[in-house]
Amino acid sequence: MELAEINQLIADDMTAVNHCIQDRLSSEVALINQIGHHIVNSGGKRLRPVLHLLGARALGYTGSQHIELATLIEFIHTATLLHDDVVDASEMRRGQDTANNLWGNEASVLVGDFLYSRAFQMMVTIDNMRVMEILADATNTIAEGEVQQLLNVHDPDTTEERYFQVIHNKTAKLFESATQLAAILCQQDEKTEQAMAQYGIHLGAAFQLVDDCLDYSSSSDEIGKNVGDDLAEGKPTLPLIYAMSVGNPEQVAGIRSAIENGGRDTIDVVLETIKATGAIEYTAKAAQTEADKAIACLAGIPDSDYKQAMLSLAKFSVDRTY
Ligand code: IPE
Ligand code: IPE
Ligand code: MG
Ligand code: MG
Ligand code: MG
Repeated sequence: MELAEINQLIADDMTAVNHCIQDRLSSEVALINQIGHHIVNSGGKRLRPVLHLLGARALGYTGSQHIELATLIEFIHTATLLHDDVVDASEMRRGQDTANNLWGNEASVLVGDFLYSRAFQMMVTIDNMRVMEILADATNTIAEGEVQQLLNVHDPDTTEERYFQVIHNKTAKLFESATQLAAILCQQDEKTEQAMAQYGIHLGAAFQLVDDCLDYSSSSDEIGKNVGDDLAEGKPTLPLIYAMSVGNPEQVAGIRSAIENGGRDTIDVVLETIKATGAIEYTAKAAQTEADKAIACLAGIPDSDYKQAMLSLAKFSVDRTY
């Protein structure tokens, strides 16, 4: 199923989510509205809300709480992006200047906090302790993942295991929440809830693995973010970890020094080694493995167009170029 077809399938729900986003974004503080609208209206794939909506529909949901939940999940995601761009010193997101670039780090961090806390206000209105528990745990885990990643920065001895822990925590966890919460809204049994949660985790891991490939293999025009940001920050992502594990001593030394020092000066040398060692292909293969696991998790979910869309999104997360 193509992306356009998937969007068509949940068009009414997405319209409702977009209204809800605009509505819940509002504050009496003008700067919050300004920054909030800047980031929200600059687009974004809305992948986490889409997954939640598809999951809820695939399991036969007929209520209206999925709209509020999809919205607040996107708010949590947006809050993490506002904070992430400060931490990563990124200047471009969704094809525009980042909020930190336009309004400064202080404003970005604080509006990120506004979005986080707005999400929690919305959660309370759902009035379901399980929902609260899942999302409180998820936001806590995301924060842990970002801190774990901070500890890996400039450390060329970061292992694959530590890398996977980071991506599970910082990224896959929110995907897991989006799909697990669909099962909870639909009052599914434990087995189905876990299948949906596992689908989200594996899809989220695939998604971040590909994000880490695109940072070396795409263009800023295509992804709407500056490429090479990871190297500039001295971040040991899987393409670099793999290249160091198979490269010759000279190649290994080049990457080690790039991670230790950060910056963009040695990007050409690093790109050459990444190419020579097949590091992007290796990382993309790891993403494919995760996507295959995600697909397998849906085996017990009754077939429907919604389920087919979820299967297609697992493929999209690997094939995507933006
Ligand atoms: C960016 O997420 C952060 C990562 C987890 C890689 P998305 O690629 O989903 O960002 P938007 O919302 O589409 O801009
Ligand atoms: C994803 O990691 C960060 C979050 C989950 C907040 P990145 O730092 O790689 O995300 P991008 O590339 O800036 O979107
Ligand atoms: Mg970033
Ligand atoms: Mg980051
Ligand atoms: Mg990235």
